[in-house]
Amino acid sequence: MALAVTSSSSSTAASTSFFSRIASSSDPKAPQIGSFKVPERPNGSSGVVNLTQRRSLVMRVNAEPQRRDSIVPLAATIATPEVSEKQDEEDYEQLARDLENASPLEIMDKALEKFGNDIAIAFSGAEDVALIEYAHLTGRPFRVFSLDTGRLNPETYRLFDDVEKRYGIHIEYMFPDAVEVQALVRTKGLFSFYEDGHQECCRVRKVRPLRRALKGLKAWITGQRKDQSPGTRSEIPVVQVDPVFEGMDGGIGSLVKWNPVANVKGNDIWTFLRTMNVPVNALHSQGYVSIGCEPCTRPVLPGQHEREGRWWWEDAKAKECGLHKGNIKQDAAQLNGNGVAHENGTATDADIFDTQNVVSLSRSGIENLAKSEERKEPWVVVLYAPWCQFCQAMEQSYVELADKLAGSGVKVGKFRADGEQKEYAKSELQLGSFPTILLFPKHSSRPIKYPSEKRDVDSLMAFVNALR
Ligand code: ADX
Ligand code: SF4
Repeated sequence: MALAVTSSSSSTAASTSFFSRIASSSDPKAPQIGSFKVPERPNGSSGVVNLTQRRSLVMRVNAEPQRRDSIVPLAATIATPEVSEKQDEEDYEQLARDLENASPLEIMDKALEKFGNDIAIAFSGAEDVALIEYAHLTGRPFRVFSLDTGRLNPETYRLFDDVEKRYGIHIEYMFPDAVEVQALVRTKGLFSFYEDGHQECCRVRKVRPLRRALKGLKAWITGQRKDQSPGTRSEIPVVQVDPVFEGMDGGIGSLVKWNPVANVKGNDIWTFLRTMNVPVNALHSQGYVSIGCEPCTRPVLPGQHEREGRWWWEDAKAKECGLHKGNIKQDAAQLNGNGVAHENGTATDADIFDTQNVVSLSRSGIENLAKSEERKEPWVVVLYAPWCQFCQAMEQSYVELADKLAGSGVKVGKFRADGEQKEYAKSELQLGSFPTILLFPKHSSRPIKYPSEKRDVDSLMAFVNALR
């Protein structure tokens, strides 16, 4: 599908697509044959361009080098401004501070005002439809793109359609490279992510198409919120220079990322959606909260965190599919795509869980524990790496657990399972990612792996008490 420049229905004539503008000869202001008009920018800059000039100015959204082996038709094109205006040297850290208490509407308005046709909303087909409503409410033209991974739920496609009709817009769909999808699926099958992690599939189906989309923009708008993922999103600012992706001018620093609802709580988003009577994904009424692709999303139970419905078989903190990988900081980067530790923790890392109630097990210690059919007492043991921020994050609750269990007949231990112990821990102790928590019951040799990502002391205690 050709990528149309979309705009809010409230702007009537201004809302016609870029391509329909070209076709419209009855428009008294229509340019003469041989030239056409770039959609007006909110800052009023002129958009009349001569066609011969224009050809070299039209840039593919697919800005990656063209593949010779690809059977996919070239991605459609979008217009870029006649002369790329020099970006003013905005201090985005300062701007983020200035806007920290601004409403999402104000932030959206600022973003659209500043970037006009060079910014687009990244719409996932979930509650981030709020972004589209906010953009609509500003009365400014706006663009929306979605990454169609090919694995979305039917309900999500329905919502895309509803949204297009409701706002009179054309969503600029981005598709994965068919050759890359073929290669992945033919070699690894349709559900490889359950075996070796979601990163590879996400890279093909989401991240690369996103990279292409962003190469046609100077800024993008996301629906990320701090409360979506305490592990990875708790610090996102309302606006930032994108730490990972490049915009049309090329190079890190050439793209600005707006997160207008960063500070809004999920509940408040829902109040807003209901109040404004915005169409929403039908999956929400079936217990889904955070929605991604069909095979990687499931409903959550009352009280479960929304993120637990995404990639539930993986470590909580590895749950960034790559669209927002700038959220994952240094220590998390020590995890590979599957959330499995790399070998780069060093012996000099300060140890953690260092308290008298947590017994530090050597390799032979844990081997004995694992072999024993009849233990004197049950054990709970964490497989950890001291450099891993997720282990560090649960240090307090694990130490508290050990304190509470002291004298109760349940022993609490730790086994450092990175480096040369990793292979053993993976093959014999079910290590998938750090931290892995195991309960060795009294009368069974087989340890039971703690299945949840909730590592607060009450959840850990409930697990131990249920199975000891
Ligand atoms: S993800 O990284 O885990 O998949 P999440 O579902 O939380 O992201 O969505 C956060 C924001 O990322 C969305 O509000 C949206 O801006 C963007 N996003 C996520 N998935 C898509 C998608 N398929 N198409 C476009 N944008 C998306
Ligand atoms: Fe693939 Fe799942 Fe990622 Fe979708 S969310 S791109 S299906 S791994």
